[in-house]
Amino acid sequence: MLWAAISHFPIDYLYPALRVLASGPADWRWLENMAAMVPDTATLVWADTEANAVLMPSSLPPNMNLVRKSITEPWPAGFHQSFDVVSQRMTLEACDSNTAQAVACALFSLVKPGGWIQLLECDHSGGFTAEQRLCCPRTAELCDLVVSSMNAMGKSNQHCRDLKGYLRAAGAIDIVKTIMVLPVGASKALTTELQASTTQDLLSVVDDLREVNQSVQSGKFRI
Ligand SMILES: C[S@@+](CC[C@H](N)C(=O)[O-])C[C@H]1O[C@@H](n2cnc3c(N)ncnc32)[C@H](O)[C@@H]1O
Repeated sequence: MLWAAISHFPIDYLYPALRVLASGPADWRWLENMAAMVPDTATLVWADTEANAVLMPSSLPPNMNLVRKSITEPWPAGFHQSFDVVSQRMTLEACDSNTAQAVACALFSLVKPGGWIQLLECDHSGGFTAEQRLCCPRTAELCDLVVSSMNAMGKSNQHCRDLKGYLRAAGAIDIVKTIMVLPVGASKALTTELQASTTQDLLSVVDDLREVNQSVQSGKFRI
């Protein structure tokens, strides 16, 4: 089941009053997988600054709510300690370390006592081994460019390594770190469909880098 690969929290998925928050999900796919696993009485909240219109459903299920806000803005007061699960994936990239810590604290304050928070970030720390560089030279080169552009903008490229610390400082206990190696790109991804979609994702990173380069050169940072 797809959710098993993307969700690492041991909750009761059949709890009728389950409340789940996806922060920075871009589209509906992560919550769509959750929706298939939980009762219709569960509440699913999508929160992001912008929606990927192509991948959002034309009509929302009645138990799904949209909140358009930045992770750096305060959450609605009623959200405090109200969620069984809070999940955020690849959304801290826009932050420096202090902001990321504040974002993690704010997200953690939304979790019910006994609930779970899941933070996932790509490893941009640039620590490729010689063997990995030999295996995937172009990917390593792309990651080097991502790291230098993040540094040029004053963003941290260490979030992935700092996640446990962010959560510990926020007050979380029972913290588990899981490292996933995801084969991507035309020659490494495991299915034809994944080869096409992950290649597209990698190419979109190149577009982002081009924008960052222009922003840095003009003195305006986009994020
Ligand atoms: C790299 S995408 C990741 C999307 C999705 N979580 C995934 O894993 O496929 C980053 C997401 O973070 C969102 N984002 C960026 N800055 C944000 C901010 N300040 N507040 C809330 N969301 C933000 C973007 O709109 C986008 O949906």
